[in-house]
Amino acid sequence: MNILVTGGTGYIGSHTCIALIEAGYTVVIADNLCNSKIETVEKIKEITNKEVCFYQIDVSNKSELECIFINHQIDAIIHFAGLKAIEESVRMPMQYYRNNIISTLNLAEACQKYNVRRLVFSSSATVYGENEVPFMENMGLLPTTNPYGETKAMSERILADISKAVPALSISILRYFNPVGAHQSGLIGESPNSLPNNLMPYINRVAKGKMEKLYVFGNDYPTVDGTGVRDYIHVVDIAEGHLAALNNLTEGIHVYNLGTGRGTSVLELINAFEQVNNVKIPYEIVERRPGDIATCYADTSKAEKELGWIPKYDIIDMCRDSWRFEINNEL
Ligand code: NAD
Ligand code: UFG
Repeated sequence: MNILVTGGTGYIGSHTCIALIEAGYTVVIADNLCNSKIETVEKIKEITNKEVCFYQIDVSNKSELECIFINHQIDAIIHFAGLKAIEESVRMPMQYYRNNIISTLNLAEACQKYNVRRLVFSSSATVYGENEVPFMENMGLLPTTNPYGETKAMSERILADISKAVPALSISILRYFNPVGAHQSGLIGESPNSLPNNLMPYINRVAKGKMEKLYVFGNDYPTVDGTGVRDYIHVVDIAEGHLAALNNLTEGIHVYNLGTGRGTSVLELINAFEQVNNVKIPYEIVERRPGDIATCYADTSKAEKELGWIPKYDIIDMCRDSWRFEINNEL
């Protein structure tokens, strides 16, 4: 089966390409490299020892996208391509809406035109807003605090409407919690073109001495130690989640959380990273970051029951694999 992976040279997409190829699928990657590097294609080939077809195209450009469907019989699509920096989305809302929404629409239209019936979409736990934890798929969604989050919530609604109108489609929406870690080979990991503002990349930079200390955003939340709690999940487990979603697609639209169901505070993550990697992470507590919520973790029972997917890796694995990639690669 030929799987079109949009955003396939990105962080989660590249790990998912490996999982797909190892499971026997043929992968066609579409990525404009706005937040990833062409070398990732070679690394995917090196890890899997298989060929990968790569198109440097913009998914929001319909005619560029259609070339792929003309050249290949695509059986399913996994749609990762998107802009994802929350703070940037507040400054550049038009780019975020154009890129993320038009890409999703173009793919949905290509599904109709080229008779592709299977689609897996990257969503985010951000669509839950400040709901009660654990977050469950059937909860009413609350407004997000930024245009990025809105593009995910809107894309979900667009796909739900398309699913009603085209019942033969099988759509799986995966809401990721906090993906961290890297492939065990140390060859691929999170390698963005600009500085990310997520916690794990910052911990890595401080550990490497590229930054003097980590700023911990608030220690007065109602959590175990006052710092923000998140459901960190190993990127290889997320990749396996896509395989499980693809293998269990049925007609209609289905939403799944991809998380571990366990919350970890900022201080707990720093502690685990220091212990497993034998490094020091100096930090300073500063003001809360605007828009942050106190606690976010998943109810994972639906993915476990319907997809048979259970994450394998814990916080220690995530910290070890993340650091291995960081020291193997001059970022
Ligand atoms: P990433 O930036 O590493 O990967 C996204 C890829 O899409 C990049 O390679 C980028 O070059 C490409 N891209 C962006 N716009 C494109 C376009 N118009 N045409 C072609 N390629 C384009 O991000 P990631 O962490 O791998 O995230 C993948 C998806 O998962 C995104 O949709 C993101 O919003 C979503 N997500 C990520 C997280 C996270 O914390 N990493 C959490 C929840 C959801
Ligand atoms: N944090 C710090 N210092 C930093 C960076 C982060 O203390 O330098 C804290 C945050 O305040 C938060 C926790 O670390 O409590 C995690 O922050 P991240 O920025 O790593 O992750 P978020 O949960 O804020 O956001 C991430 C993704 C979003 C996604 C969301 C929901 O960036 O795209 O998870 O899954 F929508």
